[in-house]
Amino acid sequence: MTILIKNANEVITLKSNAQGPRTKEQMQEIAVIENGSVLIEEERIVAVGAYEQLKADFPEIIKKAETIDATGKIVMPGLVDCHTHLVHGGTREHEFNMRLNGSTYMEIMNAGGGIHATTKRTRETSFDELYEKTMQHLDVFLKHGITTVEAKSGYGLDWETEKKQLEVAKELQAAHHIDVISTFMGAHAVPHDYKGREDEFVDVVVQEMLPKVAELELAEFNDVFCEKGVFTPEQSRRILEAGKALGLTPKIHADEIEPYQGAELAAEVGAISAEHLLVASDEGIRKMAEAGTIAVLLPGTAFFLRAPYARGRLMIDEGVPVAISTDFNPGSSPTMSLPFIMNLACMHMGMTLEEVLTATTINAAYALNRGEQVGSLEAHKKADVLILDVENYKQLQYFYGMNHTHTVIKNGQVVVQ
Ligand code: NIG
Ligand code: FE
Repeated sequence: MTILIKNANEVITLKSNAQGPRTKEQMQEIAVIENGSVLIEEERIVAVGAYEQLKADFPEIIKKAETIDATGKIVMPGLVDCHTHLVHGGTREHEFNMRLNGSTYMEIMNAGGGIHATTKRTRETSFDELYEKTMQHLDVFLKHGITTVEAKSGYGLDWETEKKQLEVAKELQAAHHIDVISTFMGAHAVPHDYKGREDEFVDVVVQEMLPKVAELELAEFNDVFCEKGVFTPEQSRRILEAGKALGLTPKIHADEIEPYQGAELAAEVGAISAEHLLVASDEGIRKMAEAGTIAVLLPGTAFFLRAPYARGRLMIDEGVPVAISTDFNPGSSPTMSLPFIMNLACMHMGMTLEEVLTATTINAAYALNRGEQVGSLEAHKKADVLILDVENYKQLQYFYGMNHTHTVIKNGQVVVQ
């Protein structure tokens, strides 16, 4: 298919000469073209710019293109949701109600609810049911303009179920328009039968599960919940180093509920990203900036757990590349609306309208090692393109809590209209 998008009020390209994830003032540079056009052929972007220029440069391609008139609208890259717990059984609205009545997230988890409750449901749910449920979630993501999504396992805590989650994600990667990128997170919680024998469970993850994940090519990334009462920094380091030796890139759930040297550890093991970071230390933030570790911030989790927000403003000012994501999961952030999460980042983490766009496109793409393929509108990149029903990009956050997605083009195909 050949497509020409014409007459857009603004085309937000996010094109830059910067190498790698954007930091500091680079996060501010979203490269807006007024009254712009985008030319797409097959699954790639051919060119972005003024219509007259494209017509002069690519007359033959334009002749066969189907035109989409974007008058009064804006165009931007497809959103990348780089941290989700996509594949899981059941829901936990009763725990939400308990929290509204005074229980805390960790109290519920330690009493056998939380991650354990979802683990039980995920073990009980058949492959086909999980597949159908997740397919429906992906449809919702797509309608919100997300064209690439990460999927973490971690609701099995045994090999059989971890494998089932990762295989569901792999099949959906082939079956759904959205690109699904998998992360193994076998160390998401300590299973009940290993209570008091945490190191033995770490042995199982390191010696049994990780080698199988690598052998079956079920994931690109390896994540761990480094948190007081879950996995210690030492145990987390072991798991991440073991994955690295097998070719799995480290990610880490760090400093989410209590400060625990998670940001520091991420920098030390060369993790591609440290995620959550609600209570990351000054020292940890400095180390991440030095190492170039991407901070994946999840303001929906702070909102939903009524916890303090991560210090996004400080992190950007210190030189940490920041990405933003939903953390979609049944406990701490049951939303598939990345647009709403962008609103929260502006309102509660002191981020600018431009930084939020960078954080959900190109920087999120880099957090998934896809920065060279998606995340900006540039010649040769994948044609993952959104048309949004707003007059300018500032209205995206101004008209908050709404989904402005009008048209989604994925791999050069119109998939939402
Ligand atoms: O990212 N922190 C750990 N994991 C998830 C929550 C999982 C759950 O509550 O089911 C998170 O917040
Ligand atoms: Fe998470």
